[in-house]
This record gives sequence, C-alpha cells and structure tokens, in this order.
Amino acid sequence: MTVHIGAQPGDIAETVLLPGDPYRAKWAAETFLTDVKLVNEVRGMLGFTGMWKGNRVTIHGSGMGMPSLSIYVNELIKDYGAKTLIRIGSCGGMQDSVKVRDVIVAMTATTLSTPSRGIFKEMNFAPCADYGLLRAAADAAEAKGTATHVGGIYSSDVFYDERPDLNEQMVRHGILGVEMEAAELYNLAARHGRRALAVLTVSDHLLTGEALPSEDREKTFGDMVEIALEAAFA
Ligand code: HPA
Repeated sequence: MTVHIGAQPGDIAETVLLPGDPYRAKWAAETFLTDVKLVNEVRGMLGFTGMWKGNRVTIHGSGMGMPSLSIYVNELIKDYGAKTLIRIGSCGGMQDSVKVRDVIVAMTATTLSTPSRGIFKEMNFAPCADYGLLRAAADAAEAKGTATHVGGIYSSDVFYDERPDLNEQMVRHGILGVEMEAAELYNLAARHGRRALAVLTVSDHLLTGEALPSEDREKTFGDMVEIALEAAFA
C-alpha cells in the first residue's frame, strides 16, 4: 500500500493503462479484461487488474491534470514496479485535419510547465513517447482503420483557458490537440527508464467548437483502449 493506492504488492501489473476518469477505468476493465479484480479505491480513484489475451494489465485512473497523474504514476512506478504506462484519454482537436472521433498518438507533449519544473529549472526538457509503443500504436490504429494522427500535443494546466494567444501559437506550430496529463507521464517515464505513451480520442474541437455526442463516446473510447492494449503487447 502507498499513500494513494491501496493495492497489495503484486496486485498491479507491469502494464498500466491510465484513463483520467476512474469510471472509465471500471468500464474499460469490465469491457476488455477478464478475471477483473478491483485493486484500488482510495479517494474514489479506481484501479482494476485483469487479463487481456493472456497478458496481465492494470487499468487505473489518473485523475485530471498533471499534479494528480504525477502522484499515481510516481507510486505505480516506484512502489509497484509499473514498466509500461499508457494514458488513454480525450483531447481537444487543434488542426483542421484533425476531426472529432479521430485518434491522436502523442509523439511529444509541449507545456508551459509540469510538476517536474522544479527539477529541470531553466531547462526546457522535451517530453517524448517511447518509440516502440508509438510505432505499435500507429500500426494497430491503421490495422483497425481508425483515423489516426501521430505528432505533437499540448499538455495544458488549464481546461478553462484564458490565453487564446498561446493556443494560436500551438496551432501555428502544428500541435494536433490539447489535453492535461501526457507531458508529466513522459517526464516520469524518462526519469525512471519506463515506457510511456498517450493515445487520445478527439472529444471536442477548439477551432470548430464541435463536441462528441455522449452516445458516441463509448465506441470511440473503446477503439482507443484496444489500440493501447495492442501497442502494449505488440
Ligand atoms: N482542453 C484541455 N483538455 C481537454 C480538452 C480541452 O479542450 N478537451 C479534452 N481534454
């Protein structure tokens, strides 16, 4: 047990999928895994371990934003030995070529700041995905016929953004979408020599204002979970 995770040693698999929402973790575990066991519910942050095609997997909520994700990922890595960590979540589209429902596989994650700022000080470290996972996810998405984009994303500290000028610069520099967690996941994976990736569904669009109807979310979220699982065990 750790401060924020009630799992026993051995309850957490080496491969961990990380949706922001704990109820998404429950849904994904019940939908895609067999032999599912609840391994954490401290503070309502649910984690489940089960089997996928003969492989042991944990699906654990990260919460919203980098400080929350950082707590769980630090404990999953340092105390439970997680080796492959894949964020599965939603993002806002930032390019005309990126449509609602498309999948983004995040090669890099640009930020204003992350919880690792204190370590890096004046350095602008470039958080990037594990190449093997990135390639396997792109291959899995292509095999599924899912419209997928591979490139840079923006990990923001705010959902209710007051700096449209920054978003303009992100769009101008080809950033595909905005979310709030991937950069710190990549920082922590780099620091501890683990593999990390973020696979994201475009749930809304900053340029068009379009948003995915709630009835469509489950199907598109499911494609993303399968892409993440296939990448993890490719
Ligand atoms: N901003 C930040 N995070 C998000 C968004 C957004 O527009 N959409 C989904 N996650």
